[in-house]
Amino acid sequence: MSNTDQQNAAVTDAKLLANSAYGDERHLAARQSIYRWQQPQYDLPGLVAEQLGDTTGRVLDVGCGNGKFVKRLRQDRPDLDVIGLDISAGILADVPGPVAVADAQALPFTDDTAEAVLALHMLYHARNIPATVAELARVLKPGGLLVASTNSDSDKRELDQLWRRAAGDVLGVAEGPARVSLSARFSLEKAPKLLGTAFRDIQVLELPGVIELTDPAPIVAHLASYEAWAEQLGVPFIETIQRAEELAERVIQDKGAFSITCLGGILVSRRNVEGQGGRRVLGRWC
Ligand SMILES: C[S@@+](CC[C@H](N)C(=O)[O-])C[C@H]1O[C@@H](n2cnc3c(N)ncnc32)[C@H](O)[C@@H]1O
Repeated sequence: MSNTDQQNAAVTDAKLLANSAYGDERHLAARQSIYRWQQPQYDLPGLVAEQLGDTTGRVLDVGCGNGKFVKRLRQDRPDLDVIGLDISAGILADVPGPVAVADAQALPFTDDTAEAVLALHMLYHARNIPATVAELARVLKPGGLLVASTNSDSDKRELDQLWRRAAGDVLGVAEGPARVSLSARFSLEKAPKLLGTAFRDIQVLELPGVIELTDPAPIVAHLASYEAWAEQLGVPFIETIQRAEELAERVIQDKGAFSITCLGGILVSRRNVEGQGGRRVLGRWC
């Protein structure tokens, strides 16, 4: 098995996801918190709530994680019947109900049940992405709304480069192995085609930004949040993070800040009624 195949298998390993990567909210919260230093700031739950402006009835948040979106929707839109679903019981522990443990590939709902489905930063964890996209479409009413989100292939490339340099130093080679890429299987570039099999009128809303750090601590926390995939990285995990911290500290001393270029995005689409896919790029939100 190639290194990429091994990493893909680990990124989609249901047991690893439920027990380790998302066994509780610690690692997810570390990855979410780095955006505190991003400019411009995006109110992601607010942007999703905006997309649900005309929606009434049932909304399924599939792969809801620590409930960032569920909580906001319950607050802003108490009229909606929002249900949080996740493969990890642990991460649902502090999410107010109704919530349920469920696999996105086999949702415990009958056909045509929801007005809207959210799949936010989660489809890249699905073992069979086309089958999971079809499952999301199955539970949606015809014409129902899907809001998905993910990152670009170029997102946070400075952290990828930092990791490879640090791993190289630890291994005594020029460049070490790449770190696990979570979003690569359903990146912003790949997502429209993958959704296009079951959804139409796909709008891609890009959310570019830059994170400027004058302290390496958020970088260390971000890199450490990949602990569940340490075995697949091909390099000692703790030592690589320590080396990355030293390298980042040096950049901060030399340049005044460590800059990270971010590109995430939201995809908004409607369930196909007649099985026709399509894509429309709306442009950037900034
Ligand atoms: C990166 S987190 C995103 C959480 C949340 N949607 C957000 O955007 O803040 C991915 C979440 O998807 C869940 N997940 C992964 N694979 C899943 C699957 N097959 N079915 C349901 N949930 C899944 C994980 O347990 C985790 O909570």
